[in-house]
Amino acid sequence: MVVDKVKQPNKTSELLARDACYLAPTPARCFEIVAERASGSYIWDVEGNRYLDFTMGIGVNNIGHCHPAVVQATQEQIEKLIHCSCVTHHKLSIELAEKLTQITPGPLDSVFFNNSGGEAVDAAIKMARYVSGRPNIVAFTGAFHGRTLLATALTTAKSHYREGYEPLPSGIYSVPYPYCYRCPVNQTPGKCDLECFGLLNKLFEQQVKPHTIAAIIMEPVLGEGGYVVPATGYAKQDGYMRRIRELCSEQGILLVFDEVQSGFGRTGKWFGCDNWSVEPDVMIMAKGIASGFPMAAIISRKELMDKWTIGRHGSTYGGNPVACAAALASISVIEKEGLLDRAYQVGATVRDRLKELAESYLSIGEVRGLGLMIGVEIINKMGEPDGVKAARLIEEFFRRGLLLLDCGQKDHIFRLIPPLNVSDAEVNEALGIIEDGFARVA
Ligand SMILES: Cc1ncc(COP(=O)(O)O)c(C=O)c1O
Repeated sequence: MVVDKVKQPNKTSELLARDACYLAPTPARCFEIVAERASGSYIWDVEGNRYLDFTMGIGVNNIGHCHPAVVQATQEQIEKLIHCSCVTHHKLSIELAEKLTQITPGPLDSVFFNNSGGEAVDAAIKMARYVSGRPNIVAFTGAFHGRTLLATALTTAKSHYREGYEPLPSGIYSVPYPYCYRCPVNQTPGKCDLECFGLLNKLFEQQVKPHTIAAIIMEPVLGEGGYVVPATGYAKQDGYMRRIRELCSEQGILLVFDEVQSGFGRTGKWFGCDNWSVEPDVMIMAKGIASGFPMAAIISRKELMDKWTIGRHGSTYGGNPVACAAALASISVIEKEGLLDRAYQVGATVRDRLKELAESYLSIGEVRGLGLMIGVEIINKMGEPDGVKAARLIEEFFRRGLLLLDCGQKDHIFRLIPPLNVSDAEVNEALGIIEDGFARVA
């Protein structure tokens, strides 16, 4: 299918005109179509055009759009109890918290619920500061942690996210993400001794003493910053991830993993950090947790959570019963349908096919990712990020009926985020479109 934007019929133009009239322009839309319904890997617009959706609402619908199990569980819950806030306890939040303690690594056994990734990031940082009594936080350059002011202060994926909001909350320092393809210390990927890790020691020597640091916050796979898998170094014994765990334990710093985008099977494991068997002290989750219902959570050890005493934080809607029903149903689908293994295997196949494509197109700098969190870095002849070409490719894919998003500082990486239960036929359809798109643009 080729969608011609000029010939879009009236329904879309009429709705977009009203959208422009009444909705704030701030949340930029990726595609000028108006969605009407969705199912599994597909989304339909109001004109009846069908698109293969490899964006999943920015990595949220991990079991596909409107999975029948989620629809049924939430419909049943709506009839019973929609909202009670913290006025009372309710059964589903207890069940969900219990379930989360089972699927998260190690001794993480106490949960706090709220509604969005950014809110959960705020909660994690407030908690870390409160229980440690330390003021400072270390984040990574290239990170994206959300849009609240505190999350914005931790976000350096693009200065665009920060401009106009200064002064941002203070006490935040950053070190480069261990991004091998663009190594911050000019080493050779996979052959280095993780010299980039030394930048943390430099930070401690030059800017901030480790005993004043409450937490280091890290995305186990860098999301908006470019779908980057952290460096392993030549020894490959779980590389940067294990080193950062050791450092935090030695220095009494809480290691916070932001699993908002990498969680709930996206990387082929329950959580991104499971790929290295590295356990955080605090984990932040959202997106895939409830298949599109607003829900987020932080999980930590009970001995730490108990120090964050009653009334120090809260949320009116956090742990809402309908969102809890959606989360429990989503987790159960991932378990019953064996979607962790499926994501792991399908992801490897997709990356192999894209790597084959890279042999024909020099504009593909790198194909990378884990499971079904896959990024393709587009470069120009000088090897520099080529956001213009990436945008042309995404436009070509769109015209052929495939939705993909970009990421990276220059919007030069396109990412594939299909549902974990994507079929082989859908994968082939998407890869065929990607091949056609490259043939056209190159
Ligand atoms: C790693 C990460 N953290 C936090 C957020 C913010 O989540 P939300 O948009 O739900 O506030 C995002 C959103 O993309 C994210 O990718």
